[in-house]
Amino acid sequence: MANVIVIGAQWGDEGKGKITDLLSRSADVVVRYQGGVNAGHTVVVKDKTFKLHLIPSGILYPDTECIIGSGTVIDPQVLIEEIDQLEAIAISTDNLFISQTAHVTMPYHRMIDNASEERRGSHKIGTTKRGIGPTYADKSERTGIRIIDLMDAEGLRSQLEWTINYKNAILEKLYDLPPLNPNEVIAEYLGYAERLRPYVVDSSLKIYQAKQQRRNILFEGAQGTLLDLDHGTYPYVTSSNPVAGGACVGAGVGPTAIDRTIGVAKAYTTRVGEGPFPTEVDGEIGEFLCDRGAEFGTTTGRRRRCGWFDAVIGRYAVRINGMDCMAITKLDVLDGLEEIKVCVAYELDGTTCQEFPSNSRIFARCRPIYQTLPGWQRSTADCRTLEDLPPQALDYLKFLAELMEVPIAIVSLGASRDRTIIVEDPIHGPKRALLDEDGTPVKLEI
Ligand code: IMP
Repeated sequence: MANVIVIGAQWGDEGKGKITDLLSRSADVVVRYQGGVNAGHTVVVKDKTFKLHLIPSGILYPDTECIIGSGTVIDPQVLIEEIDQLEAIAISTDNLFISQTAHVTMPYHRMIDNASEERRGSHKIGTTKRGIGPTYADKSERTGIRIIDLMDAEGLRSQLEWTINYKNAILEKLYDLPPLNPNEVIAEYLGYAERLRPYVVDSSLKIYQAKQQRRNILFEGAQGTLLDLDHGTYPYVTSSNPVAGGACVGAGVGPTAIDRTIGVAKAYTTRVGEGPFPTEVDGEIGEFLCDRGAEFGTTTGRRRRCGWFDAVIGRYAVRINGMDCMAITKLDVLDGLEEIKVCVAYELDGTTCQEFPSNSRIFARCRPIYQTLPGWQRSTADCRTLEDLPPQALDYLKFLAELMEVPIAIVSLGASRDRTIIVEDPIHGPKRALLDEDGTPVKLEI
């Protein structure tokens, strides 16, 4: 038995959905521990494609319990739409549970997110405009509404009458927006409460009981390490803690509950929204990565910025998350390239910088120092073992593993489950590098 955290090692969109889906097969419980409807993953079931923002993709396995944990923020309207979509194609949500202490995104949160982005002008964050930052801000300011408050009609009424009056002053005076009608908002949210009531639980207790019963728990991080509120490219970050440490707070478990941390990184880098991105490439290569990688956001449809793999942030992510191993996704996107660059360090004001600088203004001045590797220029789509890979692709993976000092346990070569090379079982396998001591690739089947 093992309890594992799956986290993004870059700026989100690393393909965590597929890796979580693969690992969910051996998980009894999947816990989403932070973020809200800013996240998104595409799920294909019975020839139907739909997008989930809050519900873990583990919901597709009827015996896997899916918990939306305390550290998340929930937009009830979107959550109910997701539940309806699943039930419309006969996927049961009886295995879905919502934490009573998660915070609720309200209409004023979305309005303030939109309006404050406009006001920021050139200082904008490039948020998803789903009200995430304002919901977490209210949580810290202790004016938030929690799921448990939604369940208590009288308490909700009295809390919202006060809060909406307070928010109306901000909407009207600061942002020139029309005020909200408290009665309409209260009626709308009491309606959501009745739909969600059957799913609401004491989630940390449920997770504790699963642990006591020695069931496998998978903690699923949304977004990525560089979008972490404390450890990312502040202020161009999200308002929660996607890093592995966030799993304990967001799920309500102690660090002793965690056995392993698995990081997910793309074979190149992407970023949505504003903020520094040293390895970003425009022109032909940028277009190539964006087109072959279908790099458009699941939540906002925005085109993602694309660039080469950055091993400095990769190493940083290994350190900040205490990563045991890594999954490299979308290696196939690089198939047609003659040569591939990897950023091994930064040049900063004439000196070489090996570490990620926490100041975004300094980070914006970092120029990538690249090492160029030969491409493989043939399809890897049908490769199922490391030996099937072109030697240049294997060298590329070894190079990344060496630079980041982390074993690569999984290589993904496309969206479908079968397009995967399992180098070693990331949950139960020994913690080994991609290379054996004598330099031969490690190959384990699970
Ligand atoms: P927010 O989370 O909507 O406040 O957005 C803050 C920053 O995080 C913006 O740069 C967003 O583009 C980025 N972001 C939020 N969620 C995701 C995600 O799931 N994938 C990639 N970027 C995200």
